[in-house]
Amino acid sequence: MGSFSCVATLILLFALLNQIHGRIGTNGCDVFQGSWVYDESYPLYDTTKCPFVEKEFDCINNGRPDKDYLKYRWQPSSCYLPRFNGADFLMRLRGKRLMFVGDSLSLNQWQSLTCMLHVAVPHATYTLQRTEGLSTFTFPAYNASIMFLRNAFLVDITLEKIGLVLKLDSIQSGTIWKGMDTLIFNTWHWWLHTGRKQPWNFIEGGGVIHKDMDRLVAYEKALNTWARWVELNVDPIKTKVIFQGVSPDHANGSYWGRPNANCGGETEPVIGLTYPGGPHPAELVLETVLRGMSKPVYLLNITPLSQLRKDGHPSVYGLGGHRGMDCSHWCLAGVPDTWNQLLYAALI
Ligand SMILES: *[C@@H]1O[C@H](CO)[C@@H](O)[C@H](O)[C@H]1NC(C)=O
Ligand SMILES: *[C@@H]1O[C@H](CO)[C@@H](O)[C@H](O)[C@H]1NC(C)=O
Repeated sequence: MGSFSCVATLILLFALLNQIHGRIGTNGCDVFQGSWVYDESYPLYDTTKCPFVEKEFDCINNGRPDKDYLKYRWQPSSCYLPRFNGADFLMRLRGKRLMFVGDSLSLNQWQSLTCMLHVAVPHATYTLQRTEGLSTFTFPAYNASIMFLRNAFLVDITLEKIGLVLKLDSIQSGTIWKGMDTLIFNTWHWWLHTGRKQPWNFIEGGGVIHKDMDRLVAYEKALNTWARWVELNVDPIKTKVIFQGVSPDHANGSYWGRPNANCGGETEPVIGLTYPGGPHPAELVLETVLRGMSKPVYLLNITPLSQLRKDGHPSVYGLGGHRGMDCSHWCLAGVPDTWNQLLYAALI
């Protein structure tokens, strides 16, 4: 058999298998339900081809020796994800602005997306502007911008006589969000910080000043404030609103049977379809808040699938190097590329 007919036969076989095992396209399919499968064709890009990737995500270059973590593809149980098509993504983004608003997990996804797009259209010029709070990546030929606005809590922190106050009922900073075509929000990790890493002195909610309070309760109050902001300010015809689900960390190995370990040295996903640690409490709060909203908000539910990826973090191959142990962010290439494949599937 000639190589042409061999290829043709393979294509036919593939088409048949698709008909049997599921569909390409995601209508009616829960794309967040599935499993990680080893796929030789992964990762989706070579990080050395992404010159602007930040050191904190650049695990291979930082010396990470194992490579299997790059090779996992997310496979929904009852359909196939459309293949990420960066050129098509940019065509759809023509004349538009997409903005991630959140903490460094938003930065992680923004960085992944900018790499995926740059590698897809390597000859298209780009500009990258970074100021303290705002990073803007632009493809002038498409007049398309992919932005990241750092905002760890979404609600305000203001300096008052008593000190820095985290205001659970107030969003003054939303003005810049309003003009966007797509908004992708995220907040969670900073709600856990205490001591030196906690960037406020008091929390104010319902007109009462607290020295501290249950962080999950505070989180829910802030999300409700955010939801009210969306209800009042977003025109769903102009702006798509997405919430990036809570990105899980892997600082505590108890959840996968290694009580005194963290993500360091992990080279494979958790075995099985669900995380032994159970659903993420912050994610449950987020889902409750979103269910109560009347404006459409798409939950990019990255939590359960990322919970399985204890192998995906920089560990000692991140910003802190061997002095640090980063079990919160994710290596690039890596898990956030899948978040962006799911984002693409949601936008097309
Ligand atoms: C480029 O996109 C912006 C919105 O992102 C729009 O206001 C502007 O008119 C566009 N410019 C051109 C030349 O299409
Ligand atoms: C890890 O999680 C287990 C189970 O929830 C808990 O008992 C333990 O205290 C945790 N360890 C740390 C260091 O937080």
